[in-house]
Amino acid sequence: MRAHDVIVVGAGGAGLRAAIAAEEEGADVAIVSKLHPVRSHTGAAEGGINAALREGDSWEDHAYDTMKGSDYLGDAPAIETLTQDSPEDTVRLEHWGMAFSRDDDGRVSQRPFGGLSFPRTTYAGAETGHQLLHTMYEQLVKRGVQVYDEWYVTRLAVTDDPEPTERTCHGVVGYDIETGTVEGFHARQGVVLATGGLGQVYDHTTNAVANTGDGYAMAYRAGVPLEDMEFVQFHPTTLPSTGVLITEGVRGEGGVLYNSEGERFMYERGYANNDGELASRDVVSRAELTEIDEGRGFEDDHVLLDMRHLGEERILDRLENIVHLSEDFEGVDPLEKPVPVKPGQHYEMGGIETDENGETAVEGLYAAGECACVSVHGSNRLGGNALPELIVFGKRAGHHAAGRDMKAAEIETGQRGEYETGRLDTPVTPGAVDATGDVAADGGVAVEEPAAVVEATVREERDRVERLLEKDDGVDHAEIRQQIRTAMTEYVNVFRKEEGLKEALREIREARELYQDVTVEDPSRTFNTDLIHTVETRNLIDLAEAITLGALAREESRGAHWRAEHQKRRDEEWLKHTLLSWDDGTPEIWYRPVILDGEDKEYEPTARSY
Ligand code: FUM
Repeated sequence: MRAHDVIVVGAGGAGLRAAIAAEEEGADVAIVSKLHPVRSHTGAAEGGINAALREGDSWEDHAYDTMKGSDYLGDAPAIETLTQDSPEDTVRLEHWGMAFSRDDDGRVSQRPFGGLSFPRTTYAGAETGHQLLHTMYEQLVKRGVQVYDEWYVTRLAVTDDPEPTERTCHGVVGYDIETGTVEGFHARQGVVLATGGLGQVYDHTTNAVANTGDGYAMAYRAGVPLEDMEFVQFHPTTLPSTGVLITEGVRGEGGVLYNSEGERFMYERGYANNDGELASRDVVSRAELTEIDEGRGFEDDHVLLDMRHLGEERILDRLENIVHLSEDFEGVDPLEKPVPVKPGQHYEMGGIETDENGETAVEGLYAAGECACVSVHGSNRLGGNALPELIVFGKRAGHHAAGRDMKAAEIETGQRGEYETGRLDTPVTPGAVDATGDVAADGGVAVEEPAAVVEATVREERDRVERLLEKDDGVDHAEIRQQIRTAMTEYVNVFRKEEGLKEALREIREARELYQDVTVEDPSRTFNTDLIHTVETRNLIDLAEAITLGALAREESRGAHWRAEHQKRRDEEWLKHTLLSWDDGTPEIWYRPVILDGEDKEYEPTARSY
């Protein structure tokens, strides 16, 4: 068994930033990651980092825009922490050598992005995430942080106290992709989950194949609540044939959307009379699909994004990456023709419930980045707010896990004291099929000594891997995975209906039952992607169900969650976060009020228009 003070799981932006912060505190820190750091999905982030850097802008304005963008479901302490810390943390990246785009006067450039009242998105061409990842990886190497890359973490090593708030996480179990061995990693001080998103729950997504929501699912099964999972972001401009992202920066630079009648529909059809194409993403995605559904799309499938009027020089200077992506993945040269685009899954606003210091309800377990929900984004994230979230909350989680004394968090975690319980009215029983089988709750292990908790968990995971490899025939993971993705894309997309959500739950239940009989055909111990995808598929099942349960329960429309039967935001009843606890295999839904009290003001929910 390996041992370190702090173990960070995942090597994207949040993981790297957490590891750097923990090292700054003097901790012996290691990263354990399914991918090599510079292959992490943060590298695909294009647009930029929102930070109030310039005269005329302020963290307060950034906070207001973020709260409005969240449709008043973000928590003020988290939003204000983000917007206060983002300028300094962005400048730190610049000092570390990040190659930001620059204006003629030498200052780092900023551009408009959706839902922002000031052009505050700092960027590096259309490859900001790539630059960010490489800049932080350099820091990691310089500091000598140990990286176990191509180690897939499959389970948390957690004590088995009855209440999750009494459990402690002592480490993780990793599967070495190169050799097929299963080993323990004991964390003497803390584990930080920074495993990124879950886009593979959907068919059409900007996310990488590796984004299977591993961190969310492991934490959920260990007893940590998932928060606001029903809020899934669909980015308005993805390439129709692949889901590849075309950055909002194109619209920030002045790119326009057209329907098949040649109308600039965001204005001409009244979807966003002030901000047009730069309304927030939920608004633009619904507008595009309405155009397509009402017969004003192209091939009943997409609308067009035109940037030709920006001119070759500007496009190549600020958006060169987009020219290559459009040509390579859609066969369209944006200098010559408008680019076909449609909404695609991009981001999960919800996640592992944490406070501002990254702590979860289980002691010693932290989460940061997309897999976490602190909650900054509420029901709709603003473009350009994901990267600052990674660096701000990655840093905070790393510091705290390594023992830095931090101001007590205002945001609560876990079921402590009184809370409002909810009701799940489902057509099939959700949760584990068989409490003793492979899709049962992970629970914890009944030993006290920290290293023994890790060892006992390793033994259970080794047995599970052996069982999967020994089974001769059964159902292939790909069939189960496709069933989930098809159902989620059909029924739990931008527009949601009660009957569709129920149908999705039936499909997910069937997929769970099929998974009882899943088989791994490849017996190899070396780079066995069949085995890895099988383990990932179990995570996708749990997360698809969590998203759908939250969506069915929330009888209102807010941000990215739109319900046909409940088309209005209903603050009197729904100004609250959805929490879902696994409760040893049986999902339990409960709620916590949104915190609208900021440092010096209370945010007043008003009608949201752009
Ligand atoms: O459109 C984009 O470049 C995406 C940015 C983001 O999701 O923050």
